[in-house]
Amino acid sequence: MKIENLMVTGGCGFIGSNFIRYLLQQDDFEGQIINVDFLTYAGNPDNLSGLEDRYPGRYQFYRADIRDRERMEKIFADCAIDAVCHFAAESHVDRSIRHPEAFVETNVLGTFNLLEAARGRGESFVLFHHVSTDEVYGSLGPVGLFTEETPYRPNSPYSASKAASDHLVRAYHETFALPTTISNCSNNYGPYQFPEKLIPLMIMNARDEKPLPVYGDGKNVRDWLYVVDHCEAIWTIMKSGRRGETYNIGGNAEMENIAIVEMICDTVDILLPAKGRRRLITYVKDRPGHDRRYAIDFAKLNRELGWRPRESFRSGLEKTIAWYLENKTWTEGVQSGAYLDWIKEHYGQ
Ligand code: NAD
Ligand code: DAU
Repeated sequence: MKIENLMVTGGCGFIGSNFIRYLLQQDDFEGQIINVDFLTYAGNPDNLSGLEDRYPGRYQFYRADIRDRERMEKIFADCAIDAVCHFAAESHVDRSIRHPEAFVETNVLGTFNLLEAARGRGESFVLFHHVSTDEVYGSLGPVGLFTEETPYRPNSPYSASKAASDHLVRAYHETFALPTTISNCSNNYGPYQFPEKLIPLMIMNARDEKPLPVYGDGKNVRDWLYVVDHCEAIWTIMKSGRRGETYNIGGNAEMENIAIVEMICDTVDILLPAKGRRRLITYVKDRPGHDRRYAIDFAKLNRELGWRPRESFRSGLEKTIAWYLENKTWTEGVQSGAYLDWIKEHYGQ
């Protein structure tokens, strides 16, 4: 498969920006990247600053809304798009509980618009890769893992909207023979993640000696994956995954939330003068419909394509903490406007 003009949607977000940087460094990708991002509160052009100069002729940016079907069709035609890697989404579960509408519009309707535009490219279109989440499978008890055969049971408006978009992608393969792949991934962490998510929120609050709000009893479990490992898995699937198939991606790193928050406190204590940050841990009201445990079986991806995560959780977390403490300009840039509004609305601070 040769990709000449790859549309990456949501390329100014956390995973999308890491993916663009990763892909431009790969010897086996020679095409052009067309980044389509509407720059919502979560999209930040600083995540990709300097790229146009560093890779002349390899990278273009369009500020555009995937909910706008005509605009999508025009970009597909103007840029002769022959493949898509689709990240753009409303991605934060807590926001989907407070304001679900945007999740249906962007995640469901936006995905539909892109599928239609891709279908309109006919034979020249080689791949639609859809980036999805393990949350579509619902919640696990104390044992067991999500496989690709686990029935869908989404519990939040976010995961329901992602489940709907997965089904549309699958249906476009079955009905229209659109070449597609889907990946369902566990929780990512690493540089450039917007600090509404657990790990960057806790690092920045620990740095600033602010309360560390842990939901419920803090014993919910997530399976953590370093973002660069996720990028490698996606590119592996795009190159060699069987069309029409779904692949689970996981980090082999199940952790209770409270254990992560304690690790962050202890690491920040070593790096910055004040001590005893565990005192900042504050148990707060639980998230409604809070899934208890996620854990991924990525045996299919390992067996068929040889992928496995490279980073351990401890080393990935240490790198991530160091990145947030070193990149003050970036953190100051995102800790304003929409970020402060959200913190006030959600945590009441
Ligand atoms: P993010 O919230 O950091 O970034 C989302 C990006 O999409 C932003 O740049 C935003 O501007 C853009 N966007 C939003 N609405 C848009 C619209 N209508 N038109 C065009 N652009 C729009 O998200 P992320 O954490 O990088 O997640 C990327 C994808 O990966 C999502 O599809 C998410 O469901 C999936 N995913 C995320 C994780 C995770 O842990 N973060 C895990 C598994 C899957
Ligand atoms: O599993 C993949 C999913 O991971 C992705 O599809 C989502 O886009 C991504 O946001 C993430 O969802 P989570 O809800 O698991 O991530 P979040 O960082 O919001 O929360 C992680 C855990 O930490 C969860 O159990 C809730 C808890 N939490 C979160 C916040 C923001 C807290 O205890 N306190 C908090 O303030």
